[in-house]
Amino acid sequence: MTPLRTSFSPAIIPFTQIDLTQKTAWKLLEQHYRQQARHVHLRDLFAQDAGRGTRLSAEGAGIYLDYSKNLVTDQTLRLLMRLARECGLRQRIEAMFSGDRINATEQRAVLHTALRAPANSSLRVDGKDVIAPVQKVLQRMGKFSAQIRTGEWPGFTGKPIRHVINIGIGGSDLGPMMAVEALRHYADAELDVRFVSDVDGADFEQAIHGLAADQTLFIVCSKTFTTMETLSNARLARDWLVQALGDERAVARHFSAVTTNTAAAGKFGIARDNMFGFWDWVGGRYSLTSAIGLSLMIAIGEDGFRDLLAGSHAMDRHFRETPLEQNLPVLMGMLTVWYNNFFQAHSQVVLPYSRSLKKFPAYLQQLAMESNGKQTTLDGAPVSYQTSPVYWGDSGINGQHSFYQLLHQGTRMVPCDFIGFCEPLTRTPEQHQLLMASMCAQAEALAFGKSAQEVRAAGTPEELVSHRSFEGNRPSNTLLMQRLTPHALGAMIALYEHSVFTQGVIWNVDSFDQWGVELGKALAKRTSAELADSSLPLTHDSSTNALLKRLRRQSPAARS
Ligand code: F6P
Repeated sequence: MTPLRTSFSPAIIPFTQIDLTQKTAWKLLEQHYRQQARHVHLRDLFAQDAGRGTRLSAEGAGIYLDYSKNLVTDQTLRLLMRLARECGLRQRIEAMFSGDRINATEQRAVLHTALRAPANSSLRVDGKDVIAPVQKVLQRMGKFSAQIRTGEWPGFTGKPIRHVINIGIGGSDLGPMMAVEALRHYADAELDVRFVSDVDGADFEQAIHGLAADQTLFIVCSKTFTTMETLSNARLARDWLVQALGDERAVARHFSAVTTNTAAAGKFGIARDNMFGFWDWVGGRYSLTSAIGLSLMIAIGEDGFRDLLAGSHAMDRHFRETPLEQNLPVLMGMLTVWYNNFFQAHSQVVLPYSRSLKKFPAYLQQLAMESNGKQTTLDGAPVSYQTSPVYWGDSGINGQHSFYQLLHQGTRMVPCDFIGFCEPLTRTPEQHQLLMASMCAQAEALAFGKSAQEVRAAGTPEELVSHRSFEGNRPSNTLLMQRLTPHALGAMIALYEHSVFTQGVIWNVDSFDQWGVELGKALAKRTSAELADSSLPLTHDSSTNALLKRLRRQSPAARS
């Protein structure tokens, strides 16, 4: 297969040519895993090194990472960092930050980091300044959101906007939805920000429930402005609004768009002044810090949004400037590679001990799995190793009473990321103490377990000893921050973005394309047409044909 043309500098090419499994560090890691690492127990590692709990920790951009409860020795860490170097991680980080076209299959630069770079920094891509246009959009967003927040932006009947509905899907929904939920504490209580993504009409109905159309603003978020689900919901919204207000001209006051395709948004009827642009070098799942975050800015205000950008920027700098050994995204990314490729762990669970971060795992799922769920290397060859694990998770405290049983005593290893805060957002210190105590207790129980000997010593009947024993040795990271602020959230978002990038560099995949979603989209166009017109012949496989026939037969239209 002809390798794709990339703009990687010659210094990087050698790293992309040798198969990952043939690299010296990889082979050494395999040997190290076989001979040592798979036999270690966290109990022994901690017993041998009284300082391990603080020695294996790192800090950056306000986030403290305790990675001591991982199945690693100093030798493991040395070898993982050696692998990162052999894969050219440093050079690839630089290539990303400087605007090289590292999204090779789409020949695009990857510059979400420029969205939060200081206004006085400079970066040129293809001879064009990137920073000034970013700042210009930010200023327009600031003005628009202030007008909405203060009620200066009248709706069609002159009343102020009090409800904002973001219509989008994937990266145009998950990021802002997660962040609005996470930062509700900082949001204007008078403004109600909701999200619609699903084409199940129930989603839209729920979103508009109880709302006055003349006080509702829709933000249609779509990078491409071609996404079937988003356009279908946007049309539904327009019909609802026009019907309620009885005038097409209302659309100009009640619709805004965030897109790179302003022509299509204009055709839809959205006024140019209400459009906020971004660029092809911002991937959908990396777009929260672009104008896609408009609903968040309306909710928490421009200052809050800028704090979030500052948090992301602080982590960007940490990632770019800190030695690999103390670099949070690098450590977390390399640990994921370690479990995924050597221990053959299939998934990674993310467990925020914060109700506000309930949606964070869903957001991470797209970030990680759309980025690294790939089977072809940047050179166009099939990979000979596993790529992204399945990311999943939920609020930690709730998880304790549902799926933690499997984490503690199941047969699979599931590395955990615990996320906690020193200070609560609410005036409920006892509740918060309970929350953090539970988080620490779970990480401790997973790591150290409870041996059969200890269970016996507690007087357990012999036939229950094995049921009540915990082998422990189950790895986890703990991320601890002072308080859930916009800055902290911004830093955490960038931490995971860069951890995912680190993994992609090691697996040598394009973390910024998503060809895997195309086939289903194309087939859905065909099946929609076939459901709409039952005279069309069905020429799919027998299963799909049977399902479509049943749907045609049983549809309300066919039955009436
Ligand atoms: O189908 C996947 C995807 O392209 C995501 O990558 C993206 O975040 C989402 O759809 C939405 O795309 P758009 O913002 O163009 O509507």
